[in-house]
Amino acid sequence: MPFGRTCIWMVAPIAMAASAQVQLPDAPGKEATIAVCGTCHEPHRAASVRLTREGWQDTLAKMVALGATGTDDELAQVLEYLAEHFKGNAPRPLNLNSATAIELESVAGLLRKEAAAWIAHRKKAGPCKSLDDFKKIRGVPFRKIHDRRDRLVCF
Ligand code: HEC
Repeated sequence: MPFGRTCIWMVAPIAMAASAQVQLPDAPGKEATIAVCGTCHEPHRAASVRLTREGWQDTLAKMVALGATGTDDELAQVLEYLAEHFKGNAPRPLNLNSATAIELESVAGLLRKEAAAWIAHRKKAGPCKSLDDFKKIRGVPFRKIHDRRDRLVCF
C-alpha cells in the first residue's frame, strides 16, 4: 500500500520522528547521508537499524529505486558511512507494518499468537509509527521488539 505509507510521512512531524532516534556521528559521509537520505524521511530514522554492508547496499539500491538521488560519489560516501557506523548482523530491515505472520515469527521472534495479535491490531488501529508504540500493544511483548530493534522498522 504505497500510498498509505507516503501519506504517513507527509503528516508525521519531523521532530517526533527524530526524538527517539540515534545521533548521526560526525564523520566523513555524514553530509552526504543527510543530503541523500533526508528528503523523504528523517535520515536518523533510516539509521535506526544496524545492517551488514550488503544489507546497506541493498537498502540504498531500494531507496534509489524509490526515488533517492545523489551522485555516484555521494552514494558511495553514504554506503561507507552507514556500513561503518551502523553496522550489524541483519541482512535487511523488516517493516512491521507490512510484515507477514511468518516474518514476524522468524525475524521479530514473535510467537504465532503474538504475530496474530499485532496483525489484528494493525488492521484495526493502523500502522505503528515507532517501535515505542509496542509498549502499549496488548498481546505483543515489547521486550521482544526492543531486543531486535536493530532490524525492525515502522515505516
Ligand atoms: C525518494 C524518497 C526516499 C529517499 C530519498 C530515501 N528513502 Fe528510505 N524509504 C523510502 C520509502 C518509500 C520507504 C518505505 C519502503 C517500504 O515500506 O517498503 C523507505 C524506507 C527506508 C528504510 C526502512 C527499511 C525498508 O527497507 O523499508 C530504511 C532503512 C531507509 N529507508 C533508509 C534510507 C537511506 C539510508 C536513504 C539514503 C540513501 C534513504 N532511505 C532515502 C523513501 C526514501
